[in-house]
Amino acid sequence: MSVISEGLLSTKHLLGIKYITKSDIELIFKTAKEFKQVINRPIKKVPSLRDITIANIFFENSTRTKLSFELAEKRLSADVVNFSASGSSVKKGETLLDTVNNILAMKVDMVVMRHPSPGAHVYLSNHIDAQIINAGDGTHEHPTQALLDAFSMVEKVGDLKEKNILIVGDIKHSRVALSNIFCLKKLGANVKVCGPPTLIQKNMHHLGVDVEYDLDKALAWCDVANILRIQLERQDIKFIPSLREYALYYGVNKQRLQKLKKPIVIMHPGPINRGVEITSHVADSEHSIILDQVENGVAVRMAVLYLLANKRKPQE
Ligand code: CP
Repeated sequence: MSVISEGLLSTKHLLGIKYITKSDIELIFKTAKEFKQVINRPIKKVPSLRDITIANIFFENSTRTKLSFELAEKRLSADVVNFSASGSSVKKGETLLDTVNNILAMKVDMVVMRHPSPGAHVYLSNHIDAQIINAGDGTHEHPTQALLDAFSMVEKVGDLKEKNILIVGDIKHSRVALSNIFCLKKLGANVKVCGPPTLIQKNMHHLGVDVEYDLDKALAWCDVANILRIQLERQDIKFIPSLREYALYYGVNKQRLQKLKKPIVIMHPGPINRGVEITSHVADSEHSIILDQVENGVAVRMAVLYLLANKRKPQE
């Protein structure tokens, strides 16, 4: 490959989609498109981050995000260290800042972090010099998930301006929902959310988003449905009577899709709860791009890492 995209992000860190511009998103997409070609070649590696050391620090469980970042870093030839809170000295009472500062003392340049506390990354960015990428902060943001979701939508339906994008499920507890909303609105899409009233915040209109409680009406409206799981681990009280009732009213299934006038694109960030928010028939159907999202995740994260690393170089 010749030179990967020219251009600089407006930001040193990726703390959330809230903090980046439409131009940043477009630059990430342009760069990710080039990296997608790279990871589909027989030789999948480029030397772009050869001198960079990245720590993946996960205080919460992850399958896709953790592996995707690690692969993206290795495809870019970065040195990588992985940290999981379970089995670490966090269990002995060490603070977040002490943990991260000890990792940085080993000459780490970038930190990819998942943490249960909303705002943990913003806090860290005020206290350390290394670049920080948010891999999910509690119920707040999951910016690389939103970027890979929007990138996958563009691949499937083209420019998102005036496209109708539906987000279904547990909006209240979902960082994917909030980051998707910020990203899709910046790209000019029409965004609607659908789910039980107890799982949708009351202030959605402040985000420029419409609310529809009837799933069949919402599905009839959209071009793309991004389906989210119920985040039971973040619910200290019961927000729905039962998963069975949730599946009945808000589960996306074959019968619901067959009633639509046109096929819609089906997405899910994972992990999927088959038979709850989505049936296996829908998840594995020809209209599902769930595994394309996972593939695109590596390319998008390569783009983010590459572009942030470029911010480290002295500018002319
Ligand atoms: N989509 C997502 O964040 O999945 P993981 O929790 O497995 O990383």
